[in-house]
Amino acid sequence: MNYENIYIEEEGSIAVITIDRPKKLNALNKRTIEELHNAFGELDEANEIKAIIITGSGEKAFVAGADISEFADFDVSQGEQLAAQGQQLLFDFVENLATPVIAAVNGFALGGGLELAMACHFRVASDHAKMGLPETTLGLIPGYGGTQRLPQLVGKGRAMEMILTANMITAEKALAYGLVNHVVPQEELLPLCTKLASSISNNSPTALKRAINAVNAGYRYNINGYAAEIDAFGACFGTDDFKEGTTAFLEKRKANFPGS
Ligand code: COA
Repeated sequence: MNYENIYIEEEGSIAVITIDRPKKLNALNKRTIEELHNAFGELDEANEIKAIIITGSGEKAFVAGADISEFADFDVSQGEQLAAQGQQLLFDFVENLATPVIAAVNGFALGGGLELAMACHFRVASDHAKMGLPETTLGLIPGYGGTQRLPQLVGKGRAMEMILTANMITAEKALAYGLVNHVVPQEELLPLCTKLASSISNNSPTALKRAINAVNAGYRYNINGYAAEIDAFGACFGTDDFKEGTTAFLEKRKANFPGS
């Protein structure tokens, strides 16, 4: 696929995806969602890529939401389809990706933008970033998982306040809420994310994938997270990564994981 609205940069085992529609504050239109789906899929398949960072171009916005101009005339079934397709192609896809994804929140993360950041495995923000779910100001509710992931990350009361008031919160408050893990000046945002991605890239890819699955399992109503953890833990013992990791430890050397 030829990318128009995103670009990808790779350095060693780390890939950075940048959403690049700065004139529209990187709003997620249908094309951008499809491009992101393809990009995440391709990078996940690439054995050399061990961690992915996603950010927005410019200093103003990570993503200012779903592209309002594309759905302003939708009816009920189109609205339902918009949410279902988006969740399947991007938000659930990212959350369940085997390769860890870090959101580098470089400015406004609103509506679908905050929902995208929340679908990532964790978030780092620049100190001027603002986050919120303003959908109720449009006569909508969050449709890309926001009503579910925000309470998981910040607790029900805080999520209710953010969704019902539609107010934005500062990066500092997002840090206090646990919505983001770190807040740094803009110029330190990508360096910090790269450092974290680099730590991840030293670890066993098969273990990372199972850790993501096991953590996510605890948030599914029909899956017992503890049982999922036992299964995944056991499965690790059948991997070459486990043999290499334990052998390297006993031989007092750095592991070089085959990823199988
Ligand atoms: N969908 C489509 N276009 C968007 C957009 C969105 N979610 N967010 C911003 N844009 C566009 C604006 O329409 C404008 O385009 P134009 O120059 O062609 O008129 C451009 O991006 C710049 O935005 P603007 O509103 O002029 O910037 P601002 O600095 O005055 O305000 C925001 C910034 C983020 C506060 C404001 O753009 C905003 O509220 N955006 C919508 C946020 C939202 O409701 N998201 C949830 C969608 S479900």
